[in-house]
Amino acid sequence: MRPELQQKPLFFFFFFIFLNFILWSWLTLDGVVSDPQTNLVRLWCDQNGDNDGSIMKEILNETFGDLRAQIKDQNKQFAIAQAVRANMPVFGLFQCRNYLSIADCLACFDVAAVNIRNCSKQAYGSRLVYDGCFLRYESSQQYDLATETAWGNIRCGNQTIIDSSTLASTVQQALTNLNTATPKMAGNFYAATKTPVPNSNNGLNIYAIAQCVGTLSQSGCQTCINSASARFQTCLTNSNSESYDTGCFMRYSTSSFFADNQTTDIKPFLKQQGSSSNNNKGVIIGIVIGCVVFVLFLLIALFIWIRPRKSQKRVPRGDMTGISKLKAPVNYNYRDLKSATKNFSSENKLGEGGFGSVYKGTLKNGKVVAVKKLTIRQSKRMEEEFESEVRLISNVHHRNLVRLLGCCSKGKTRILVYEYMEKTSLDRFLFGKKKGSLNWKQRYDIILGTARGLTYLHEEFHVRIIHRDIKTNNILLDDDLQPKIADFGLARLLPEEKSHLSTRFAGTLGYTAPEYAMHGQLSEKADVYSYGVVVLEIISGRRNNQLSIGGAAEGEFLLQKAWKLYQRGTHLSLVDDTLDPNEYDEEEVKKIIEIGLLCTQASAEIRPTMSQVVGLLQQGGLAEDIRPTMPLFIEID
Ligand SMILES: *[C@@H]1O[C@H](CO)[C@@H](O)[C@H](O)[C@H]1NC(C)=O
Ligand SMILES: *[C@@H]1O[C@H](CO)[C@@H](O)[C@H](O)[C@H]1NC(C)=O
Ligand SMILES: *[C@@H]1O[C@H](CO)[C@@H](O)[C@H](O)[C@H]1NC(C)=O
Repeated sequence: MRPELQQKPLFFFFFFIFLNFILWSWLTLDGVVSDPQTNLVRLWCDQNGDNDGSIMKEILNETFGDLRAQIKDQNKQFAIAQAVRANMPVFGLFQCRNYLSIADCLACFDVAAVNIRNCSKQAYGSRLVYDGCFLRYESSQQYDLATETAWGNIRCGNQTIIDSSTLASTVQQALTNLNTATPKMAGNFYAATKTPVPNSNNGLNIYAIAQCVGTLSQSGCQTCINSASARFQTCLTNSNSESYDTGCFMRYSTSSFFADNQTTDIKPFLKQQGSSSNNNKGVIIGIVIGCVVFVLFLLIALFIWIRPRKSQKRVPRGDMTGISKLKAPVNYNYRDLKSATKNFSSENKLGEGGFGSVYKGTLKNGKVVAVKKLTIRQSKRMEEEFESEVRLISNVHHRNLVRLLGCCSKGKTRILVYEYMEKTSLDRFLFGKKKGSLNWKQRYDIILGTARGLTYLHEEFHVRIIHRDIKTNNILLDDDLQPKIADFGLARLLPEEKSHLSTRFAGTLGYTAPEYAMHGQLSEKADVYSYGVVVLEIISGRRNNQLSIGGAAEGEFLLQKAWKLYQRGTHLSLVDDTLDPNEYDEEEVKKIIEIGLLCTQASAEIRPTMSQVVGLLQQGGLAEDIRPTMPLFIEID
């Protein structure tokens, strides 16, 4: 039984080595730069990061230097590299089309390494595709990512004038062949074909290539190639097109972009499907290779058989070793954190949050961090989930979310280390010492940024995270007064029965959505509610639970007051007196108050989602049919 199972991969393996050898001998012969093919297909900047993107650019040189060395010194056409500084990892990946010489590959890299820096300094990663090569960097390890709907795309070339139906069917044939063969080209996932267009007057050919990044699995490569080839359907009659996704690149053209002798013999890979007829040559090659493979198989089987069992474990692919480690949070040494915070001294204490005390710490390398000592009561659940939760949170990267740098466990103590925000939290700017110091533009940016951060947690991160405790003290401000939401993900560590604290809610119209406070019904709409309260606080400069003093509205909480004013059409009077009326557009402010009221509607179902809120904030006015309904006021004795 085993021979049959082993034969297939081995066959591919040796065939691939054989191909590589041929390819390699051409490549090393050709040391002169002819054409690095740096025609731009696409530059894409990941703007979902935080301001630390600029740090990444500094570290890039190191990552890129490593990539370049691998191409130059090891004649590689595919390389990955990583560098870490100040707990900020930067992962780089580079690939050039296999038909390029090493000199051209290096030239393509050099152009890409400069141009990929065109992204703004906030960019948290970037991808740059040229015809000849592909360079990308990012802050988390995503080498196994095959497709992303936000990124995969096609670029259709010029319309052809020749008979388009014959062309289309030839292109389709070439793409189908590449689709079948490329994922089977184990190790380098690359194939190039030249297919004559039947009955074309001047001997027209379709030149086509497909390539996956070397860190994908065979099925990952197949997934990517499937989606890339499906995209070609819209432009099969064009003279050239490129389709790409995170893990692969495909291109065809009626003009040659690689030499005729650089095509890949993909026939054996197509035959595996039993689709085309055998010819004699194929049979002979098949038998010869089959025999060689069989003998080698026997040797390898013998080798495996005499080896101890332990070593049969799957070993990660070449360069991948050590990378998966980085995805886990950085573990800090307890003693280091203790000395960084002067033994958790009160002078270093920044505040006391729902989950524990936060201290300002200065690490040995000079980096200032926020150190949060969790005081969540020990529970089995917490012990079990701490590590996985922290791993999850430390992989959340968004410019409007506070970054978790790492953690520390010592005995029963659990500590989280976050990036430090000099300006501290929003409540101080609204109600504290700095009251009245935020202008309208800054308030608007905070409203929008907070909505974006929540959208990411609810809808864009691969696990939905409900914050459960959105309030002004949990919204920190960076040096540019951009908001960053703190403490997300932690609520899941609370014991089940404590996860909604009705006591905190009692007697006040707080941040907590009524259905959650009263019945423990939790959905992301509970965050939407709290967000709506925060919006009203930002606009009015008033605490939600502070009774208004003086005037007709005496004895009303913020939400009640906002609703009443809205009903009378006078909600503009809610605006903070310290704001200069020349600074803001009245209609815009009214719209945002209405958005706040939409978020705090009694029925969770009809509250907008956070991505809808982002859309509403950015569009002109609210549509006629969008009218907030009444919030739920709980009677207070
Ligand atoms: C990093 O590389 C860029 C472009 O190659 C260069 O302009 C810059 O000076 C380098 N920075 C450092 C710190 O080496
Ligand atoms: C990067 O910026 C330079 C200078 O503005 C420009 O010439 C170049 O085309 C840009 N590259 C990309 C890939 O956008
Ligand atoms: C492939 O063709 C090019 C010319 O197009 C030639 O210079 C090169 O030597 C050829 N390589 C082989 C291995 O035949």
